[in-house]
Amino acid sequence: MKAAIITSSDKGYAGEREDVSGQVIADLLTEAGYEIMRKVVLPDEKQMLADEMKDLCDHGADLVLTTGGTGFSVRDVTPEATKMVIEREARGITDAILFYSLSITPRAMLSRAMAGIRGETLIVNLPGSPKAVREALEYILPSLKHGLEILK
Ligand code: MTE
Repeated sequence: MKAAIITSSDKGYAGEREDVSGQVIADLLTEAGYEIMRKVVLPDEKQMLADEMKDLCDHGADLVLTTGGTGFSVRDVTPEATKMVIEREARGITDAILFYSLSITPRAMLSRAMAGIRGETLIVNLPGSPKAVREALEYILPSLKHGLEILK
C-alpha cells in the first residue's frame, strides 16, 4: 500500500517549525508496512492543499493522511480543502477518531477533520499535534487496511 503525508502548517512551510507530526505518521505507517511515496509540508492554503491531494490521487496513492489545520483558527482550512477533493465521505473514520479521542480529551471536539474517498484513494485528516496524531492513528490503522483492500 502506498501512503502519502501532507502536513498543513504555515510555520512548518516557512521552516520555523520542525514537522514532528508528519514524522510520527511516517514512522507509524512504515511500521505498519506502508510505502511512503511522498511527505510534504504545505502552508494553510486551501487551493494548494487540494491540488496536492488531487496530485497524490492521480499518482496512485492508496492513502493520504493530513496533519494539522483542522481546528478553529481562521487559517485552519484542511477540512475545506479535503471537501473540494473527495467524491464520497467516509464519516465512520472521523467519528471513530472523535469517539476514541474524546475518551482522552474533551478538546477532541474541536477537531473539524474530514475523511473521504476520491477514486481509489482514501484521504483522512488528522489533528496537528504529535500526541493527537499518534492517538488517532493507532486507533484507526488496524481497520484502515481492510477498507483500503476493498477500495482496490
Ligand atoms: N485528538 C486527540 N486524540 N488528542 C488530542 O490531544 N487535541 C484536539 C483535537 N483532537 C487532540 C485531539 C485539539 S486541542 C484541537 S484544537 C483539534 O484536535 C484540532 O487540531 P489542529 O488544529 O492542530 O488540527
